[in-house]
Amino acid sequence: MPSRRLTRVCCALLAVGMLHAASAAPAISDARADAQAAAWVKRMTLDEKIQMVHGVGMPSPVGGASYIPGIPRLGIPALASADSAGGVGGLNVPKSQATQFPAPLALAASWDPYLAQRYGAQIAKELRALGFGEGLGGGIDLAREPRNGRTFEYLGEDPVLAGVLSAARTRGTQSQGVIATVKHFAANDQETQRFTSNSVVDERTLHELSLLPFEIAVKEGGVGNVMCAYNLVNGSKSCQNKVLLTDVLKGQWGFKGTVQSDWLMAVTDTVPAALAGLDEEEPGSQDDNAVNFGVHSHFNQWLKAAVLDGRVPVSRLDDMVRRKLRTMVKFGIVANPPARGGVIDVAAGHALAREVAEQSMVLLKNDGATLPLDPARIRSVAVIGGHADAGVLAGGGSGGSGVQSSGAAPSPDNAVACLQPQAAIGSDHFMTGCATWFKSSPLAALRARAPGMSFSYLDGHDVAAAADAAAQADVAIVFATQWSSEGMDLPSLTLPNAETDAANQSYDQEALIRAVAARAKRTVVVLENGTAVTMPWIGQVSAVLDAWYPGMEGGPALARVLFGDVNPSGKLPLTFPQRDADLPQKLISASTADVVYGEGLRMGYRWFDAQDIAPLFPFGYGLSYTHFGLSGLQSRRGADGGVTLRVTLRNTGNRAGAEVAQVYANLPALSGEPPKRLVAWQKVMLAPGETRRVTIEVAPQRLAIWDVSAHRWRMPAGPVGLAVGTSSRDAAALGATVREDGGYL
Ligand code: NOJ
Repeated sequence: MPSRRLTRVCCALLAVGMLHAASAAPAISDARADAQAAAWVKRMTLDEKIQMVHGVGMPSPVGGASYIPGIPRLGIPALASADSAGGVGGLNVPKSQATQFPAPLALAASWDPYLAQRYGAQIAKELRALGFGEGLGGGIDLAREPRNGRTFEYLGEDPVLAGVLSAARTRGTQSQGVIATVKHFAANDQETQRFTSNSVVDERTLHELSLLPFEIAVKEGGVGNVMCAYNLVNGSKSCQNKVLLTDVLKGQWGFKGTVQSDWLMAVTDTVPAALAGLDEEEPGSQDDNAVNFGVHSHFNQWLKAAVLDGRVPVSRLDDMVRRKLRTMVKFGIVANPPARGGVIDVAAGHALAREVAEQSMVLLKNDGATLPLDPARIRSVAVIGGHADAGVLAGGGSGGSGVQSSGAAPSPDNAVACLQPQAAIGSDHFMTGCATWFKSSPLAALRARAPGMSFSYLDGHDVAAAADAAAQADVAIVFATQWSSEGMDLPSLTLPNAETDAANQSYDQEALIRAVAARAKRTVVVLENGTAVTMPWIGQVSAVLDAWYPGMEGGPALARVLFGDVNPSGKLPLTFPQRDADLPQKLISASTADVVYGEGLRMGYRWFDAQDIAPLFPFGYGLSYTHFGLSGLQSRRGADGGVTLRVTLRNTGNRAGAEVAQVYANLPALSGEPPKRLVAWQKVMLAPGETRRVTIEVAPQRLAIWDVSAHRWRMPAGPVGLAVGTSSRDAAALGATVREDGGYL
């Protein structure tokens, strides 16, 4: 069988993104980083080596999530990390001017690798300004279970979308001299029993879905740090899992960086962890014999003892240290150690936060061109609910808002007082059930945008009053919120009410929407959400705009999209089902440790396609204020097995707008694949009436399946159908067929 090299990138935008990489850190070659690390390891004492493979414990003496002291006699600087999913924040980060961006899931809805790169770069600049050399943002577990409370921290349900955006974000981060992280490795897809659950996944599903975003992040993003997860995978703790850490990550993919543990509960045994390939324990502690936060650490005195008595070879410890040091050299921590007291470019951060929010909002429904709001037709607007007078919602936990650290008292900066402050959530004593609203009021932004219009605001508690106000206005806008957080899963994808989220929600949102829609001339629902939402009320409203958790510039961004200053171009990064019962996992068990991936390859839209279940809104879906047409599809298969597609996009409407040409492959029937998979895409901005011929490259691996006998990627033999459309279920998609010859990659 021929062997193929993985040379192509997924889509042309990636190449554009790379061209734009404004690098603050001078590139340092692998050879130089390796040589420097090797030279240091030769000179280090055993104690110095041990010092490099664990943090000093929580709280970190310099703030943030972890701290490894430097070794001045050798010129090795200290390294501090901080959470940074959507901006610097999380554990123990002092209050700062750091920008809080839209959540990573929102970024995924932009389908824009270049935007992801800039998001990574700006957050990295702010990490550096605050003294951190490593960012812990970069979650890429797939939305197998959309009720997972951390779905907002991740990049959706498709491995290629998540992988490509993660690689772009990673390049942005590392271009600024900050080590990027991808996490949580692997198959860490729900929070219920998060320290003990065991994901039971077959080898093919693991490689084609759960692992693929990580593979792309390593190979195309060159990520420096991989955080292993709390959960077990096929019976072995992720951070003590030799198959995952050594065989796959370091062996098959050639990962040269550091494997870092998740915090506190991820490691249970020193020697198995070290031998499996774990390189760094966090947050670590000064004394493995002490119990901190209910657990022991393992990579201080206990690792030293294991090295001294030969249970862990010195060569393994040297490898851990070499990996840490070469990563610090490679990404500029050694040449230019981050120091606190840097200046954050607040204006640049806010401008980008607003741009990301604007590019990520998804217009789900727009009957009768209700949106954009037309000041010529609309004089009065009733704004209702969701604390739209105060701000916009953010997710919770370490990847949530930067305003309120997990476990801390509710911050005075929170625009909304907690209903039940400090309610502990899930089994996790570090998390509370109090949501954060950034002080970026949509109501104030709407008023500022249209001073001649009259806006009323009702908070939604009094349903009858809200319906009355709606009846008197030209349009009603209901703001609906769905709070989610690390440490908990959602009981349902329905909008929460006072019973299902008592800490943050004081009324029945669905009842409110129905009552308003029954009386209003037109009802627009704006969603602020961390995952899919079911909408049994959808038939009663005119328009739905999904804003996700839109970050600290969410208010102005919403006003600009609602008024059409910005044409929405976001596309769903995950399927919105009609009901919870349509999901492959019927419920998240709080009593069974095994989480069995019984749906196999049918994850996300693959499930809905294979089972022929109509979703509420399919993966890749999103409307625009203009219209687009696709034509003239041509395809050519390259010698490496990849495919080059050419297609013409035309903006047939009278507004500028961006469309995402999405390419889905239907693999040969004998391959045993679900009906389609995303293999490439390109987002294109077009002026009214403009036509553009675009080239989209499909990399060979995107068409491959994981061969469980050979334990490698293989091209299934036979015809491959390619569909180019504007969602995963576009009836007007264009089709082409190419043949594959069955070779190994
Ligand atoms: C635990 C979370 O799972 C992880 O994502 C985070 O980076 C660490 N805590 C540090 O806050």
